Amino acid sequence: MNSVNPFDTKSGNRPVILSGIQPTGGLHIGNLFGAIKNWVAMQDEYQCFFTIVDLHSITIKQVPAELRRNTLEMTAMLIACGIDTDKSVLFVQSHVPEHAQLAWVLNCYTGMGELSRMTQFKDKSVQHSENIVVGLFAYPVLMAADILLYQADMVPVGEDQKQHLELSRDIAQRFNHNYSDTFKIPEPYIPQTGARIMSLQEPTKKMSKSDGNTKATIFLTDSDEEIKNKIRRAVTDSGELLTEKDFEIFSVNQESFSEFIYSRPGLGNLISLYQLATSKSLNEIGKDLAGKGFGDIKSIVADAMANHLNPTRTRYNEIRKDENKLKEILSAGAEKAHAVAFKTLRKVYKKVGFYAL
Ligand code: TRP
Repeated sequence: MNSVNPFDTKSGNRPVILSGIQPTGGLHIGNLFGAIKNWVAMQDEYQCFFTIVDLHSITIKQVPAELRRNTLEMTAMLIACGIDTDKSVLFVQSHVPEHAQLAWVLNCYTGMGELSRMTQFKDKSVQHSENIVVGLFAYPVLMAADILLYQADMVPVGEDQKQHLELSRDIAQRFNHNYSDTFKIPEPYIPQTGARIMSLQEPTKKMSKSDGNTKATIFLTDSDEEIKNKIRRAVTDSGELLTEKDFEIFSVNQESFSEFIYSRPGLGNLISLYQLATSKSLNEIGKDLAGKGFGDIKSIVADAMANHLNPTRTRYNEIRKDENKLKEILSAGAEKAHAVAFKTLRKVYKKVGFYAL
């Protein structure tokens, strides 16, 4: 029984974190530094559930063989990045049927009007106007089910998912109020160091996997050469060279660095990348980059990023090769997730009045 109950750990009842990621396309450094590194850092302090949300991905048309491959690749990459399946529960959403089951019930406790206000639905229905399906409309309800099934205390979310989390809270509160306490009301988790990585080609835009310009995005599977080439060709602005004094000011006054990034997004992005790749302080970075021209700066950042990503990619290639092992990991994850999800769903079915056998 121990092996299927993730709460039977020596550290006792740690607060629960749940987060999800879609298996559409590969992970890039924006995901790594913006989300995954935070997931990795939370694993000791929290009981974490990380789910690869394949049910969500079919709200947009997918090529079946690609979705299947991406799911496996995402699993391998998350492990390569440091998700430790001895500490955290890593699973694929469709392997745990309770997600779809709870989503159906919650659909009956969510207003059409509430869902019509979701900005992601509005944006995506413009982008995919040829195929606006009911699932896309109900997407946030499935996300609420993901979160509420595990009685998550906190959900690490980026800016774009805050509205969905707010809706999850509303649905949970409504259900609790209608019946009795059933769901924990989840709080947003705002990481202390949420890095925002910008496109290498249009540095005022967030780096994204669906960028039409492949030079704009560094994927974790890119080779050293690809990484270096993309950084060497990054778009920068023309402007003054930075001095060591500038970096000293940045290091004592975070706001001045933010303002700098705002006014010189291309160079600012490169400095942030260097900071993330080397974990150096801004003061130390000044010693490496001050007085240098864009060409030199790009080469230094390119080498640092290639070195930083290389071990992860090596681990990934190793893990990805052993599909049987990956299957074992996912089936253990699904079993642990199911053990928790099942209890919540059973309560819900009882409260809404389903006749139990
Ligand atoms: N909607 C999220 C995204 O696109 C992914 C997601 C699905 C998620 N279920 C979740 C995130 C539950 C946090 C919690 O990024």
